[in-house]
Amino acid sequence: MEFPTTRMRRLRKNAKIRNIVRETKLEKDDLIYPIYFKEELKGDEKEEISSLPGEFRYSLDSGVEFAKKLEAKGLKSIIVFGIPLEESKDEIATPDYSATGIVQKAVRRLKKETDLVVITDVCLCQYTSHGHCGMIVENDDTDDGIEILNDETLPYIAKVAVSHAEAGADIVAPSDMMDGRVGAIRRALDDEGYTNVMIMSYSAKYASAFYEPFRVAACSSPHAGDRKSYQMDPANAVEAIRECALDVIEGCDFLMVKPALPYLDVVRMVRDEFMLPLVAYNVSGEYAMLMAAIEKGFLTERAITESLLSIKRAGADLIITNFAPYLLLNDVIE
Ligand code: PBG
Ligand code: ZN
Repeated sequence: MEFPTTRMRRLRKNAKIRNIVRETKLEKDDLIYPIYFKEELKGDEKEEISSLPGEFRYSLDSGVEFAKKLEAKGLKSIIVFGIPLEESKDEIATPDYSATGIVQKAVRRLKKETDLVVITDVCLCQYTSHGHCGMIVENDDTDDGIEILNDETLPYIAKVAVSHAEAGADIVAPSDMMDGRVGAIRRALDDEGYTNVMIMSYSAKYASAFYEPFRVAACSSPHAGDRKSYQMDPANAVEAIRECALDVIEGCDFLMVKPALPYLDVVRMVRDEFMLPLVAYNVSGEYAMLMAAIEKGFLTERAITESLLSIKRAGADLIITNFAPYLLLNDVIE
């Protein structure tokens, strides 16, 4: 039926009607908050992150307190990142799998003092002296003379995951993009009896410029070279399906696409292809970009909810986002 019989605007008449026909909703259950614990900070100290206005690096006390505040406003899950002492970093990321490491300590506190689902980012880059997500050797056949070793890296990543599970993590989230890491982690967890610890794989993680504010926050930039030999080429979408398929075969429990907004086509493709819960990572650069525009008065805060809603509309079930405090503490979502 055509105009005037069919009038699309009838369904937009007022808020009551719009609410009952709305297809996608952003809910508190959908949010995962990335929190950064910095070993150097003590007591109630916290440090604002210059590249992420409104976001902080926390001490154990101040971070756990903030997590509790968010939980009281409806947050359900949190992903923990650690920033170790600069002088503790080495070639083999030793502080990353220490039982008394910053993430392990934060996880113990969060599990004891909150009911949040506790997820940990599993990667080596914040803990290696060279800033890469794996072991390195010199190799002239690479872009920058450095080869990031794959199979040699896997035992270290598995060790990190097991140490997070020991501390009480509900879910481990490997973000390194080495081949075979999900399988290596699953085997290591199962061997140690952590059969119920879940793996949220950063399945399709792109070599993106949008991680820059995070790297400033976490001091995790590679000192030489880049991550293009392990993270995905932004030009590829079909390849994301292969990455996800392998993670599924290796036993992951959640799939992830990262970043989110510039890769909504990939989110949709993965949603249509697989039946696992799908996470989209609304990364630091996506946050910084909107915050900068809002600060300048070029955009209003409505752009935040619209962006996050678009990620859900594309097919994500969960969104990791620095905007969680804004949404929860200001009662922006129900
Ligand atoms: C560590 C890691 C990164 C992010 C999450 N885990 C940075 C990177 O890969 O360089 C990015 C998070 C963000 O930008 O918000 N591998
Ligand atoms: Zn890394």
